[in-house]
Amino acid sequence: MSDRFETHEHDVLIIGAGGAGLRAAIEALAHGAKVGVVCKSLLGKAHTVMAEGGIAAAMANVDSADGWIPHFRDTMRGGKMLNNWRMAQLHAQESIDRVKELEQWGALFDRTSDGNILQRAFGGHTFKRLCHVGDRTGLEMIRTLQDRGVEMGVDVYMECTITKLLKDGDRIAGAFGYWREQGRFVQFKAKSVIICTGGIGKSWKITSNSWECTGDGMALAYDAGAELLDMEFVQFHPTGMVWPPGVQGILVTEAVRGEGGLLTNKLGERFMQKYDPKKMELSTRDVVARSIYTEVKEGRGSEHGGAFLDISHKPAEYVKQKLPSMYHQFKELADVDITKQPMEVGPTCHYMMGGIRVEAETAQTTVPGLFAAGEAAAGLHGANRLGGNSLSDLVVFGRRAGLAAAEHAKKVSAPNIDASEIERAEREMLAPFDQSAGESPYAVHRDLQDMMQSLVGIFRVEDDLKTALAELDKLKERATKVRVEGSRMFNPGWHLARDLQCMLTVSEAVTRSALARKESRGAHSRIDYPGLDEQWGKQNNITKREGETMMLKQVARPPLPDDLKKILDE
Ligand code: FUM
Repeated sequence: MSDRFETHEHDVLIIGAGGAGLRAAIEALAHGAKVGVVCKSLLGKAHTVMAEGGIAAAMANVDSADGWIPHFRDTMRGGKMLNNWRMAQLHAQESIDRVKELEQWGALFDRTSDGNILQRAFGGHTFKRLCHVGDRTGLEMIRTLQDRGVEMGVDVYMECTITKLLKDGDRIAGAFGYWREQGRFVQFKAKSVIICTGGIGKSWKITSNSWECTGDGMALAYDAGAELLDMEFVQFHPTGMVWPPGVQGILVTEAVRGEGGLLTNKLGERFMQKYDPKKMELSTRDVVARSIYTEVKEGRGSEHGGAFLDISHKPAEYVKQKLPSMYHQFKELADVDITKQPMEVGPTCHYMMGGIRVEAETAQTTVPGLFAAGEAAAGLHGANRLGGNSLSDLVVFGRRAGLAAAEHAKKVSAPNIDASEIERAEREMLAPFDQSAGESPYAVHRDLQDMMQSLVGIFRVEDDLKTALAELDKLKERATKVRVEGSRMFNPGWHLARDLQCMLTVSEAVTRSALARKESRGAHSRIDYPGLDEQWGKQNNITKREGETMMLKQVARPPLPDDLKKILDE
């Protein structure tokens, strides 16, 4: 059976070519593994580029009092103490070396007057900590990692979607997918697989995420028996574009506020004074997003339903130098000159704190041979991520995943691929062509996005979440019957039919977890449970597949060791 498909064999197969995937590839290659990277899109086009304002690392180039301890403390406090403390510690300690290494590999950063990497302020960070290059930091990182990976000999499979992880008994054996262009199937045999597929934003209507972010990696891991952690924690970045409608949700980097941008409502009030008078515009993202949302809901929003973000009090040349992408983005997409006029901004679904449950040291999931890193993995950010901690997450845990996956591959024999599994994967993929009636996958996707936006958004309440679960059941039923026309070549409707399955899986996991967590913590705000709950602070939500049923359970969090507790108590 398998002879019918193109087959590629690797020690380590990486699904996803953003910052985490590329950093993992570099590390696995450095440890002698034969590495393949599969990307759904073109190499270099990853959501990593949407972390525009900088990479957080306590280099102490601008504020000499910074160090891994304050970075660790800020990350834990920002995550409302639900973070995996060991991940937060490793991240704070190792991000400094990871940035130096990026620089050695050719990444360009803005400079202090004495020639060090320049760092800027961001929400929730006590010190100026974000190393940056204007507002194009993620792009520079991808460029650097891509050059390095290609130079080291990584095999790249572009425009290829993975639809199933293959197993040999309990262990991972590879992956099955299709070429987006020709629609032909392909299988990958691998001793280790690392999932680095990023987030899930396309389940919401207003999002900074692009078409690739459909939760594939989380859904693949879940289907393969891995556990998902704290799926209720979805980050709404406070500032996305709100106007014109065609660009709604596109990111407006936090660097605008980091460089002194002010938020006001239609009455001209700096409303953050009411919500966080100490940190103001540089409060954590969960707080700023809720504040903007509340201002709009209570009738003090801008003309198009947002808030005003103004940086025009800074010299025009400074704005253009520090925020070149924002300058062009607003000029070209909204006909707004941000050196003279305020921007209109509102919350946009940006990032997933929840995801695949992994071990801190190795990024290993609960499935032998399966690893995960970056946004697809969970733990580091707890209930809310600080801006800039995503880029450092990618390189710290991408490296660790690559190392552990390469070591794993050295210890195990080549896996066997079960032909019946492949046949099933093929049948599932072709099913939408066999429907004689049925609706378009676009209609189901649109309804999913509308529903998640209105019922599982920034503020949540039991009745809405229960309605959302009932709606998800209906959407799942509809998704099994979607019909696609035409052939397998260049068929985006067919691609969406598959992506829908992933979006429905992760949306259900988010909704179930959100319903279960009866408290408000970080990005999860329950109108009916507005405060923190001590017991919920001691446990994580775990989602796992049992047969065809999605099961949710709570597990106790490991206690903080005394040395870290002392740091947090200070
Ligand atoms: O606002 C931003 O530049 C985004 C950064 C991030 O998500 O880390």
